Amino acid sequence: MIRKEVYGAIDRLVSSSVHKEDLKLLLSLTEADEVNYLHAAACSVRNEFCKKRIALRALIEISSICTNSCRYCGLNRYNRDACRYSLTEEQILECVSYAADQGYRTVVLQSGEDNRDADSIANLIVSIKRSFPVAVTLSLGERTYEEYKEWRKTGADRYLLRIESTDELLYQSMHTDRTLSSRLKCLEDLQSLTYQTGSGIMVGFPGQTISTIADDIMFFNEKQFDMLGIGPFIPHPQTPFSGCDPGDLILTLNTLAVTRLVTRYPWMPSTTALGSLHGDHRIDGLMAGTNVIMPNFTPSHYKSQYEIYPDKQSETENEERLHLIAQKSSLSIDKGRCDSLLPRRL
Ligand code: 5AD
Repeated sequence: MIRKEVYGAIDRLVSSSVHKEDLKLLLSLTEADEVNYLHAAACSVRNEFCKKRIALRALIEISSICTNSCRYCGLNRYNRDACRYSLTEEQILECVSYAADQGYRTVVLQSGEDNRDADSIANLIVSIKRSFPVAVTLSLGERTYEEYKEWRKTGADRYLLRIESTDELLYQSMHTDRTLSSRLKCLEDLQSLTYQTGSGIMVGFPGQTISTIADDIMFFNEKQFDMLGIGPFIPHPQTPFSGCDPGDLILTLNTLAVTRLVTRYPWMPSTTALGSLHGDHRIDGLMAGTNVIMPNFTPSHYKSQYEIYPDKQSETENEERLHLIAQKSSLSIDKGRCDSLLPRRL
């Protein structure tokens, strides 16, 4: 049975009328018929605005070194047990070459905030762009405007930086030596430098509520991000939140679905975290409106050392499995660049 107010809330979102109360109602759904109806509505919005496809992005985790101290993350600098590595330019180019050979046209270079020299990143971008026909997405954390500018000039196309939370107090409880305002400034810098910009949040972090998630979704709507990454919080044993529960699966899927209904166009991954939550739930993500999968191209020796959270799903994705996932979610696979779909960029 689906309540009248659930139909009403979804209809209003589909016709671009966004009210926080509707977001809260839909985020809170738990009854199977209503949850399935919400997720199906998100899928039809995705299919209409993004076409029926899954974009594949090759993820390369280039360094696990981090000077930051995010209290949820296994790479935080206080974790003395973490294994630290940093790939050389040559190693990274090998990963890119391997991905490009397999037809991938986007590589995502991700790392902890390792203070890698900005010029060496710029050289890396130049080398990639010279040799391979790929879009380059960076996910290297907070850096200065000048550094972002240099990397954009040398050819970086996109940047991922999650806001984690728009709630000042919650943000402070998650981060000890960074501020919400510096995160917002970085996102503004990236957008003003014409990066295709991605943001996002974790779902189920202690202290987060339906109301703060609704505010985060309103923020996504206001900022018109090109990409949005949303996945469940998974407690890491070497962090202050080790004893906490992981993010709830249904709430995570509802957050994806409501975000899709509100924002329509972004590329949204079925995240690795969703694939690591007692089993692989990435298909459920696709059935709730996501449209990206990021197979991991980090050299296998280093993959397990990039431990943001425990038991991170990191087996090398084979083509067969990806096609099975696509088939099960009635989508096709697209390895092309898959640039921003936001109308202002067309
Ligand atoms: N659980 C889930 N996601 C996490 N991230 C970091 N630590 C965790 C965790 N313990 C996410 C953050 C970050 C992204 C790269 O990974 O949202 O932005």
